[in-house]
Amino acid sequence: MSSPYVYSSHLKNESAQLFVSPLPDLPLREIPGSYGVPFFGAIKDRWDYFYVQGEDQFFRYRMEKYNSTVFRVNMPPGPWISHDSRVIALLDGKSFPILFDTSKVEKRDVFTGTYMPSTSFTGGYRVCSYLDPSEPAHGSLKSLLLSFLTSKHEEIVPLYQSNLKGMFEELEDQLRGKGRAEFGPLNDALSLEFVFRLFCEGKNPSETKLESKGPSMFRKWITFQLAPLNTLGLPKLLAPIEDFILHSIRLPFFLVKGDYKKFYDAFYSSATSFLDKAESFGMSREEACHNLIFMAGFNAFGGFIKCFPSLIKWVASGGETLHRELAKEIRAAVKCEGGVTLNAINKMALTKSVVYEALRIEPPVPYQYGRAKDDLVIQTHDAMFKIKKGEMIFGYQPYATKDSKIFNDPEKFIGSRFVGEKGETLLKYVLWSNGRGIDEPTMHNKQCPGKNLVELLPRVFLAEFFLRYDTFLVEIGTLLSNTTVTFLSLKKAKRSP
Ligand code: HEM
Repeated sequence: MSSPYVYSSHLKNESAQLFVSPLPDLPLREIPGSYGVPFFGAIKDRWDYFYVQGEDQFFRYRMEKYNSTVFRVNMPPGPWISHDSRVIALLDGKSFPILFDTSKVEKRDVFTGTYMPSTSFTGGYRVCSYLDPSEPAHGSLKSLLLSFLTSKHEEIVPLYQSNLKGMFEELEDQLRGKGRAEFGPLNDALSLEFVFRLFCEGKNPSETKLESKGPSMFRKWITFQLAPLNTLGLPKLLAPIEDFILHSIRLPFFLVKGDYKKFYDAFYSSATSFLDKAESFGMSREEACHNLIFMAGFNAFGGFIKCFPSLIKWVASGGETLHRELAKEIRAAVKCEGGVTLNAINKMALTKSVVYEALRIEPPVPYQYGRAKDDLVIQTHDAMFKIKKGEMIFGYQPYATKDSKIFNDPEKFIGSRFVGEKGETLLKYVLWSNGRGIDEPTMHNKQCPGKNLVELLPRVFLAEFFLRYDTFLVEIGTLLSNTTVTFLSLKKAKRSP
């Protein structure tokens, strides 16, 4: 790009608005880093990422080596799953938002990065998450979902609350019986039940062909699609075998075909009003149903099973002091409003801030990708870089939302970080939804349409939790790069429900 202007996006309104401002006085740097020798460079980076350095060190090492938050690198999986694994990595909060500007980057087939799972996993359709906003189907599907979620606005809190109550009772039973209670399986069941009931006229998934196996079937189907990005953490000796099976070849759809048929039948027969609405939006019931399976099973269920364990982990790390403050705020708001209503939830400033802080410090979806639609210049805190049309841009979100030039003490979980006028100004740097915290999802952008729901449910969870309990202890682990939480104690509130 030859003109001395830099683009930055302000996605406040319906469509992405582009403001052109004169270039600040920053040096123009060549993007450091190299892709290495074709094929072998990609394999080397993949080994560094999974087996030699590990994810965090992979990025930190390069950032320090090049003294830059922007550099060239290959992202997994590489050969033979991705045709081209070369990306330009962005690791700071200033350059990252270029990925939200759909007038500058193309988001076609980049949802999972440099490869796309076979469309057999989605009934032969390229579902909404893989569509660029310039494709007409994106607008129809996203408007359909946004309109459906708006129509369910009043039902969301009571529906989630009714499911939560059963989960707390189950947690307490397990703690009484075994002295410990694993949160994961209970959260899986709760999340699927909530999502299914939301989209399927209040029907419980266990009353359908899914029976009680829905959560494990969905987990398997998601794992098959994301396998190229994961490692099982096996002993080093087995790494070459794992690397071949997970990262070099695609796991075949036929191994989950039977489960997918059951998802389809369950949603097709139960999601009557969603499918009716889809027809009124000009879509076939079939296409809408495959999209619904992905939205409910991958986007929503897949997101909730990551974000709730992480929320509990961070709230646990705040200790009894944070728990006491949350309980105090929540109980006062509920007393004033006469229940866990939307009004009461809106009064809980600390609770809201805690939710944002958990989403900031550990964004549930750490990667975002977009392909430059044109030559462009991006800007970090201390330099500018030219990116050529067609190059793949990759944002590693955990570094962007822990940028020390934006957040004080970025590695520390500070529950009250977003409280008050000053705290709220930082919401624009919370990026978990594939958009800024102050922006809204629309049919023109790629921001998560579940944004408001996702920011609401953890607040309802914390409200119900701290009405019932004063404090708690957990044991934290990891399984397949995901957080696992085991409750060791739950101290009941004196006048718990
Ligand atoms: C904790 C839960 C969730 C997380 C972490 C999450 C995260 C995300 C992210 C990061 C994206 C953008 C992906 C990209 O283009 O790079 C996205 C897109 C999307 N999400 Fe969510 N999401 C969650 C829940 C939900 C829910 C509850 C729904 C629907 C009810 C939903 C539906 C979608 C859809 C349809 C897209 C594609 C948007 C588009 O193509 O414009 N998500 N989500």
